[in-house]
Amino acid sequence: MKIQQDILAWYDLHGRHSLPWKVKNIYKIWISEIMLQQTQVKTAIPYFKTFIKKYPSLKKLCEAKLNDILKLWSGLGYYQRAENIFKTAQIIKSKYNGIFPKKYNTLLQLPGIGRTTASAILTFAKIDNLPILDGNIKRLLSRMYGINSNILDKDIEKTLWKFSENLLPKEKASEFNQALMDIGSLICKKNNPVCNNCPLQKKCKAFKTNWFDIPKIKKKAPIKKQKIWAALIINKQKKVYMKKISWNMLWKGLYSSPIFSNKKTMDLWLKQKNIKGELYTKSWTFKHKLSHIDFAFDVKLFEVKSNKKLIVIDDNWYNLSNIEYGIPKFQEKILSLFKQ
Ligand code: ADE
Ligand code: SF4
Repeated sequence: MKIQQDILAWYDLHGRHSLPWKVKNIYKIWISEIMLQQTQVKTAIPYFKTFIKKYPSLKKLCEAKLNDILKLWSGLGYYQRAENIFKTAQIIKSKYNGIFPKKYNTLLQLPGIGRTTASAILTFAKIDNLPILDGNIKRLLSRMYGINSNILDKDIEKTLWKFSENLLPKEKASEFNQALMDIGSLICKKNNPVCNNCPLQKKCKAFKTNWFDIPKIKKKAPIKKQKIWAALIINKQKKVYMKKISWNMLWKGLYSSPIFSNKKTMDLWLKQKNIKGELYTKSWTFKHKLSHIDFAFDVKLFEVKSNKKLIVIDDNWYNLSNIEYGIPKFQEKILSLFKQ
């Protein structure tokens, strides 16, 4: 049996067939592929379901405001993706008559859609037969073809694209690509690959040379940055002051309490707003870990009397029972300290 048949047979028996984006709807497939760019399947599923409930069609999404999309994205991270979805919807509305484009080269022009995302969208929608190459598949192919060098290298990447292209069968590209993704994440795992359950075993160089020699594909672990930030909860008449984040790409467009990277800028801000030190009533600290940064937050609560004149430029006061904007995870933690 050809390796492609083995892979498809494996997929029939063991693949993930009931993922909520296994539908014949290019709009939903697009949303899922954007979500899955930096999020694992397990985490993405509930977010995907909520998203599709709110925006069941591309038409509905085209009417959405960026803030509403960001609110649905709250907690998923990499918020640029939400902005890309918003921008794409606007482009589709104005340029493509509200219809999702179906040409590979057109898809590549859309924000947030690169080669593998475009191919995944078109093959899963059964419009085209195109190879894919995500991180898991890079690892799997490097092992299978015995490439024991850095998969981040541009030449190696070209070679891996070729492998993926040559491997792709003329039919059933959708099932085949999903099978590669599933084998990559369930079988050919980074640590302890389950070679004995793998349909690629008989063709796999890594397996043949010796189990223990399976090339471990490592990125150099970046040194984690440590940051200490100050956050202010300004509470006035049961409302909390928050502002749209423009100072950090990770959370751009979401809302947070005033955040400062040092005490000096915080003190200056407090002075400018006419909020004085004696009003500060409580403080907490908590840790917040991202994959590349460890934060420690120093949180101070300022209870402001109703008659106190604050110098705030715009209306940024939010009732905690009804926050209609997206907030980052760290802000959820800040607000929960206040609610205690
Ligand atoms: N990662 C990217 N696309 C995926 C999909 N369709 N299923 C599982 N993981 C994925
Ligand atoms: Fe990966 Fe093992 Fe399968 Fe080779 S045989 S592709 S190393 S799981």
